[in-house]
Amino acid sequence: MSHLSYARAMDSFQATIDADSRIEPRDAMPDGYRKTLIRQIAQHAHSEIIGMQPEGNWISRAPSLRRKAILMAKVQDEAGHGLYLYAAAETLGVDRADLLDMLHTGRQKYSSIFNYPTLTWADIGAIGWLVDGAAIVNQVPLCRCSYGPYARAMVRVCKEESFHQRQGFEILHTLSTGTPGQQAMAQDALDRWWWPSLMMFGPPDASSTHSEQSMAWGIKRHSNDELRQRFVDMTVPQADVLGLRVPDDGLVYDEVTGHYSFTQPDFTELYEVVKGNGPCNEKRLATRVKAHEDGAWVREAAAAYAAKQMERAA
Ligand code: 3HC
Repeated sequence: MSHLSYARAMDSFQATIDADSRIEPRDAMPDGYRKTLIRQIAQHAHSEIIGMQPEGNWISRAPSLRRKAILMAKVQDEAGHGLYLYAAAETLGVDRADLLDMLHTGRQKYSSIFNYPTLTWADIGAIGWLVDGAAIVNQVPLCRCSYGPYARAMVRVCKEESFHQRQGFEILHTLSTGTPGQQAMAQDALDRWWWPSLMMFGPPDASSTHSEQSMAWGIKRHSNDELRQRFVDMTVPQADVLGLRVPDDGLVYDEVTGHYSFTQPDFTELYEVVKGNGPCNEKRLATRVKAHEDGAWVREAAAAYAAKQMERAA
């Protein structure tokens, strides 16, 4: 592309962003915009498929057939979300196999939250209610992301996430209105998952490296701290309905602002987990790599079948 036509293409990109319209795969875009999207969408896709592990751990131990069927459907939904997101990333000119390779070799991240263990059945409720609840708060604004394929993928993902959030709430509601032992199990799950759920939104705004540029490009619509606040405001009244106590002595509702003030999570822990030092990082990655290796024959068979079909058609 000549210097002049590159400048024109960038003007047209900026005009599309300024008009709050969508950038599509055929459109010219700055390298930084493409790279940021690949990074974020890949990290998001990796989170969806790694996120299958903590819940998959309970499929064989779900307390009833109904719970088992619901949990299986939910875990399958997460695989589907990974699929839409890898497909969205591929529209930016990358190959899914390369993205997976970067995940497996630790060159791309996935969400910190999936490095915590699911110790009891109540954790499955807490993941649905808190983790999927946080995912909804983070992802609903992504339905208005400036990049068309990502925004469109998010619409369906968010619909499914809201089912996931309700199923988690229902599990905890059953436990918190059950025996004292079940109530204690629900409270223990909230105690352990509250802080990691707040960390999911990322570092505080002052330390967020990408937020400002991503917001200028219309990729992110709100900062990490704004979304964290929104999550707290939404979730605390739900904890009251469950009769559970959010484990934060600093939680105060401000009548004037209509927001809760709350204690920030320990961001040193977030950085440690992201660096690979969380309780389950090694296990999560090893399980993922093994699943990928075990699935090699499926990919080879599909490729051989596709080649045969093409040969026949020719
Ligand atoms: N876990 C792991 N890494 C994190 C993180 C977290 N919770 N929060 C931030 N980071 C990383 C960023 O990726 C970035 O690292 P990099 O420069 O090496 O890529 C660094 O920390 C600095 O953070 P920034 O705030 O500058 O990064 P972003 O602007 O990308 O914001 C984000 C982080 C809010 C997570 C944003 O990327 C985002 O909204 N992503 C899309 C949603 C997503 O990926 N969600 C993951 C959970 S998916 C899920 O929950 C599935 C559901 O089924 C439960």
